[in-house]
Amino acid sequence: MTTANPSLLTPHPSLLITGGAGFIGANFVYYWLKNHPQDRVVVLDALTYAGNLASLHGAQANEQFRFVHGSITDQDLVEEVMQTEKIDTIVHFAAESHVDRSIHGPDPFIDTNIVGTHTLLKVAKKLWLDSPLTPHASHLTHQRFHHVSTDEVYGSLEPGDPAFTETTPYAPSSPYSASKAASDHLVQAYHHTYGLNTTITNCSNNYGPYQFPEKLIPLVITNILESKDLPIYGDGLNVRDWLYVDDHCRGIDLAIHEGTPGEVYNIGGNNEWTNIDIVKLVCSLVDENFASDSGLQQRFPNAPFIRGEKSESLITYVKDRPGHDRRYAIDATKTRNELGYVPQETFETGIRKTIKWYLDNEEWWRQIMDGSYQDWLDTQYGDACEA
Ligand code: NAD
Ligand code: DAU
Repeated sequence: MTTANPSLLTPHPSLLITGGAGFIGANFVYYWLKNHPQDRVVVLDALTYAGNLASLHGAQANEQFRFVHGSITDQDLVEEVMQTEKIDTIVHFAAESHVDRSIHGPDPFIDTNIVGTHTLLKVAKKLWLDSPLTPHASHLTHQRFHHVSTDEVYGSLEPGDPAFTETTPYAPSSPYSASKAASDHLVQAYHHTYGLNTTITNCSNNYGPYQFPEKLIPLVITNILESKDLPIYGDGLNVRDWLYVDDHCRGIDLAIHEGTPGEVYNIGGNNEWTNIDIVKLVCSLVDENFASDSGLQQRFPNAPFIRGEKSESLITYVKDRPGHDRRYAIDATKTRNELGYVPQETFETGIRKTIKWYLDNEEWWRQIMDGSYQDWLDTQYGDACEA
């Protein structure tokens, strides 16, 4: 392990944010432009089904912001953007991120999560380390490759097991988590072998604005508004550790500015919920919103509340996800002690804000639900049945 980290970043770094049109990436763009207004922010995103330029609408007018449409697997493009923009900090979010999709079709997960990450690493090494101006194998450069990863690389916990720490052995179980584990190992290898200045954060389940409605919380909110079934996989007792997305962004900021090269930091919410409890909570909060806002009753006439029913009545137990990890929980002690990381949003306030965001931003999710995503969903889950 490497030792103390001097202030490695230039005063006003030029950031390449991969996957910045996705859920966490878009939130991170807004977070960074607000908290570091003098920094350059360049997004590289392939705009897959999960990428949405509308999510970056509020950044487009900012002179520090630029969007580049393209894939992280395109080495020439990555090199050109990094040179033109004098990129000294990569914050790597781009990934195929949905476990269910990785089960039905793993190929894009290998291409983007493994090959794409390796392409970025190769270019960073070439431009930051192989140049004659910077000594090879020195991590005392001012550049930083920050890799955004997941708690899923650690595998699955049983109910009384201690939470994941940074030294928990890797045991990924889905094609998604295996591809993220592979990318983590490549990042570590580029630090260890070549001295690339890297940090990795492994985070638990995020929730908040701009999350694609294939993931549990936005799926439940938008399905209630359309009076569609709320599918609960298996017995509904799988546990996830939920974190408001801005707190994840804050943790990444700390890792970039304060983190030691080559180190890994866990980020989590200390907020474990079974799936069925979280779905019931979202149902009751949506009902509460309808009870107090007659405008909602007009805008969403299909919602169960209008028929005098509870949203919970839509809950439907369906076949379990193959290889479904039982429980995730993050121990963020190291990140708290070394970086001063403390989540700021309580779950009570974060989930209320999130529900309000989806109620207020129907246009954003409607264009997704009306498009090809719905076709894909129908082909995968047309066979939903009682468990
Ligand atoms: P997302 O699916 O919402 O967004 C992914 C983004 O990456 C999209 O904008 C997509 O267009 C882009 N992308 C995909 N392939 C690309 C390619 N080849 N080149 C360029 N761009 C490409 O994902 P998310 O939920 O925002 O997750 C972001 C990162 O955070 C991922 O690396 C994920 O593994 C990690 N993570 C997510 C969570 C979570 O709860 N969502 C938790 C921990 C870690
Ligand atoms: O833990 C971090 C991970 O969290 C990230 O690395 C992933 O990118 C992100 O997608 C998320 O993975 P999960 O598989 O935990 O998230 P998802 O929202 O798909 O599912 C959350 C839980 O809810 C999980 O136990 C499966 C269950 N579920 C999900 C859906 C979509 C259901 O019961 N029904 C559903 O319809």
